[in-house]
Amino acid sequence: MAAILFDCDTGIDDAITLLYLASLVREGKAELVGVGTVHGNVDPESGALNSLRVLELAGLHGVPVAVGAARPMAQDVHYALDWHGTDGLGDTGLPDPAGRPVDEAAAAQIVRLARSRPGELTLLATGPLTNLGAALLLDPQLPALVREVVIMGGAFDHPGNVTTHAEANIWHDPEAADLVFAADWPMVLVPLDATHPTAVGDAWLDRLSAHDSEAARFAAKILDFYVAAYTPTLKRRGAVIHDALAAMLAVDPELGEYAERPVRVELRGELTRGTTVWDARSLPADDDRRPVRVAVGSDVTAFQERLLASILSL
Ligand code: BDR
Ligand code: CA
Repeated sequence: MAAILFDCDTGIDDAITLLYLASLVREGKAELVGVGTVHGNVDPESGALNSLRVLELAGLHGVPVAVGAARPMAQDVHYALDWHGTDGLGDTGLPDPAGRPVDEAAAAQIVRLARSRPGELTLLATGPLTNLGAALLLDPQLPALVREVVIMGGAFDHPGNVTTHAEANIWHDPEAADLVFAADWPMVLVPLDATHPTAVGDAWLDRLSAHDSEAARFAAKILDFYVAAYTPTLKRRGAVIHDALAAMLAVDPELGEYAERPVRVELRGELTRGTTVWDARSLPADDDRRPVRVAVGSDVTAFQERLLASILSL
């Protein structure tokens, strides 16, 4: 059973992912050992309150939620309020959670939990990688302590979603992302190339809205905002629930197709800063970095059906 430490910027698709993780915990298929938040879609304090709201709504109590980095390592902070609302949950005005974040920074929590359970934890990161980068700086031995790192981020053959080539989670903190890709730990990267084809549409959204439960009503409500933001890009009613694909591939890797290549982040390009770069030439690997398993596709039907079933099960 996967023991997951979830690092996120909650965020509408991060919130849906928390519902999915909560359903896995209920079914005994995963353990959620902690949540850390980072700047990105919103500031990390708002992200922590949102995470607590979702965990409480899903009936998952006792999961520590730690606030993490408020800004990137080497650039100004930006939020994605147009996509996620000013509160990160589609301006749905949810009441404050009963719980509070723990009194430990998210990077310190990663290091402490990894040391306490060597070789067991899956670090699932669906926001900018500042907390993971900071954790690597706090403890350079961290890669040997972690079972696997699964990241939603990057774009290779697919266009970027912030600039022509850069995807949001990498663009928000390119230096941290490059530190993470340079580290010697088993990594799975789930880029836009894999997430965009999983976009849900009318039928999926209607089935969600038709279900009468608190979790389904919450998911439908926050997705209304996200769908409105996505519709011009997709040119149809729909949304890409990126982060949930990374979570699903963390527990069911056989649902993905992968290419194994070292990954670097462009740190200097005037037009390309924050772009993920791999060497797609069929030459022998001429890179001292450990190859990353990059998801290039997935079983879209299985993803959509399992995600919907998980929300409806709560
Ligand atoms: C990623 O950016 C964020 O806005 C989403 O939550 C997702 O993690 C997609 O590029
Ligand atoms: Ca996210």
